[in-house]
Amino acid sequence: MELFDSVVKDIRIVTGTFDSQIPLTLHEPDFKETKAKEFIFDCINSGWVSSQGKWVDEFENKICQITKAHHAVAVTNGTDGLRLALHVCGVKPDEEVILPSLTFVATANCIAHLGAIPHFMDIETDSFGLCPNKLDQYLKEKLFIKDGLAYNKYTNKVVRALIPVHLFGIPARIHEIVNVARKWNLRVVEDAAEALGSFSNKEHCGLIGDVGVISFNGNKIITCGGGGILITNSKDLAKKAKHLSTTAKTYSEYELIHDQIAWNDRLPNINAALGCSQLENFSSIMSRKRKLAHLYHKTFADQYPFNFIKENIKDCSNYWLNTIKIDRKRIGESDNFRKKLIQKCKLSKIFIRPVWKPLHTLNMFKNCPRSDMRNTLDSYELLINFPSSPSYVRS
Ligand SMILES: Cc1ncc(COP(=O)(O)O)c(C=O)c1O
Repeated sequence: MELFDSVVKDIRIVTGTFDSQIPLTLHEPDFKETKAKEFIFDCINSGWVSSQGKWVDEFENKICQITKAHHAVAVTNGTDGLRLALHVCGVKPDEEVILPSLTFVATANCIAHLGAIPHFMDIETDSFGLCPNKLDQYLKEKLFIKDGLAYNKYTNKVVRALIPVHLFGIPARIHEIVNVARKWNLRVVEDAAEALGSFSNKEHCGLIGDVGVISFNGNKIITCGGGGILITNSKDLAKKAKHLSTTAKTYSEYELIHDQIAWNDRLPNINAALGCSQLENFSSIMSRKRKLAHLYHKTFADQYPFNFIKENIKDCSNYWLNTIKIDRKRIGESDNFRKKLIQKCKLSKIFIRPVWKPLHTLNMFKNCPRSDMRNTLDSYELLINFPSSPSYVRS
């Protein structure tokens, strides 16, 4: 059998769809066996569908239980959550924030939304997150400290923060990254948008730096339709985030005062109700996700010219998107191989996806400061995401 036909057959076997031609998407939410309708009707019947109500509190509490975060602040989406997290960490216009180039565009957009400047950094090729060793070396070459603040030697701008990303739910080497950041007094906002249920050395992703942000967009493991949440162990940061995400309203019996210019970043109650319905089944969803990853790994271990990306031994990945890396040595012309594989799968109604174009190459960010991008550019050409919905595996 031709190689590409064989890949298609094996994806169908792994996803339990061998006998059917049902379209396979990258990641769909699973509302089966949830109380989604019941919770949403309850919300509608209560009359509180918008910015207040019990489901938002419930959602924040449940996320604290799963992640062991001391505090959680629900927001409208992950992008707004990242912007809010950067703001409460003190990022101001014209300051630089370091981030990997291989990530979803929102990681850079949230910096630009504050009038700050994305400063792009290369990744490592195990976790596809920032490389702590390379980061350490790079910061030594590029930064200097004055009055307790880090400055870029070449642009003279303050470098205020760092956003490590846990790409596809695979934990980055976050403890080491945070240690490097602390040497330069950089605040750390973890982009854990894709990483609900992922742990690095037993700590939930998003809680190792100052603040973490998780997304509940429709393509994530748990969805609110759209939504996000900040998690943190800092009472002070959580308090600021809550205040600024709720129009900085102060409460008194006789007066309504807004004490700062702030945002309306509140997650509507009805969205929180939908999120809560799936969180009740979170452990079942996670075990199916991990089972699916295990099946992919077993099936695609040696016989194909690509490797299945696995979690680091001390970590636990949620395997949000199962990912393979083409082995360039075994296929020669990688670009053609990638295109052919994607085309072949598309013909069989299987949606597999290349990764995003590295952000430092996008028009709006092309003049931003950056490191060399060897691993980023290489990974961009070689990584492909496979269908990863939990519904492909029975509990
Ligand atoms: C890595 C990453 N960062 C940020 C976001 C933004 O989250 P949202 O879509 O909820 O705004 C997403 C995803 O959607 C993402 O994948």
